[in-house]
Amino acid sequence: MQIAIIGAGKVGIALARNWARAGHRISFGVRDPAAEKHAALRSIGERVEPAQAATKADVIVLAVPWPAVAAAVAGLGDIAGKIVLDCTNPLTMGPQGLALAIGHSDSGGERTAALAPSASVFKVLNTTGDNNLGDPGRYPLKPVMLIAGDDGEKKPMVAKLVADLGFEPVDAGPMVNARLLEAHAMLWIDLSRNRGLPRDIAFALMRRDPAR
Ligand SMILES: NC(=O)c1ccc[n+]([C@@H]2O[C@H](COP(=O)([O-])OP(=O)(O)OC[C@H]3O[C@@H](n4cnc5c(N)ncnc54)[C@H](OP(=O)(O)O)[C@@H]3O)[C@@H](O)[C@H]2O)c1
Repeated sequence: MQIAIIGAGKVGIALARNWARAGHRISFGVRDPAAEKHAALRSIGERVEPAQAATKADVIVLAVPWPAVAAAVAGLGDIAGKIVLDCTNPLTMGPQGLALAIGHSDSGGERTAALAPSASVFKVLNTTGDNNLGDPGRYPLKPVMLIAGDDGEKKPMVAKLVADLGFEPVDAGPMVNARLLEAHAMLWIDLSRNRGLPRDIAFALMRRDPAR
């Protein structure tokens, strides 16, 4: 598939490398395509303006900081009918360190979906670190990747993209459940930043009966 990655930071580059290895075509949508700092991305994909990357993409990945989401979506142009994967987490710096800026009765995923009503928006790829997004291999079980979104027809395509990265995709319900996925992400962040666990931890789903 043709994938537009909006934001060439830690998450954007990790996902791009991983999907490129799996045979997908990558365009980075960046604010300054000519910037020297993006030159090293040449081997993975072209660097163009975000709207140019979005126009030709089947799938658009939002990998920008939470405060930049509204501006980034507004800069994509007409994205009617496209799949948007929202990997962002609505983080803020609280008195005890990083925390969710919103939650319980709202989520970043729902807000992103409201910003792009003509697209099929999914909250996904937000619940583990960029190190795992780039390489979820070498764990005893496949790390799980939860997917929330309201477009049931397009969700299998998202699950396939997630599987191509090396995760076990799991349908976690409608976009309102982004509230749960963002809290789940916050747990991973807290464990790896504040509880003495390393960043190479990942959640997996176990089944007593592998057939179910
Ligand atoms: N890091 C993780 O382990 C991790 C894991 C899961 C989810 N997330 C979430 O993923 C998102 C990205 O995290 P990150 O760690 O990759 O951040 P990052 O390394 O700081 O990269 C963010 C990128 O977004 C770009 N950007 C900012 N505003 C933009 C705009 N309006 N249009 C296009 N690009 C824009 C920046 O580009 P410039 O160079 O132009 O400033 C930068 O390259 C965040 O919401 C984060 O919460 C992070």
